[in-house]
Amino acid sequence: MSATRISQGVTRGGPIEITVDGTPITCFAGETVAAAMLAADHAVFRVDTRGQGRGMFCNMGVCSECLVTLIASGRRVRACLVEARDGMEVATRD
Ligand code: FES
Repeated sequence: MSATRISQGVTRGGPIEITVDGTPITCFAGETVAAAMLAADHAVFRVDTRGQGRGMFCNMGVCSECLVTLIASGRRVRACLVEARDGMEVATRD
């Protein structure tokens, strides 16, 4: 796991695993998909119509720059608003 998480004075849920574009990422219950991805140094959340990688901007559900696809449902969701669940599969491309 990346050293980008705060390590002192924080209570976390247990470790869980999600996959992003087929790559397993270990994160913690209660984290958003966006937090899990950033902590794993996965900063590209989607690709725009010009093929440019896009990343988080507002981190509060306003800009939609963090849209990812949940494989199980096919839904496009804002990663900064969705809680990571163990076994969740996420794709950054349609
Ligand atoms: S980062 Fe803006 S909606 Fe998620």
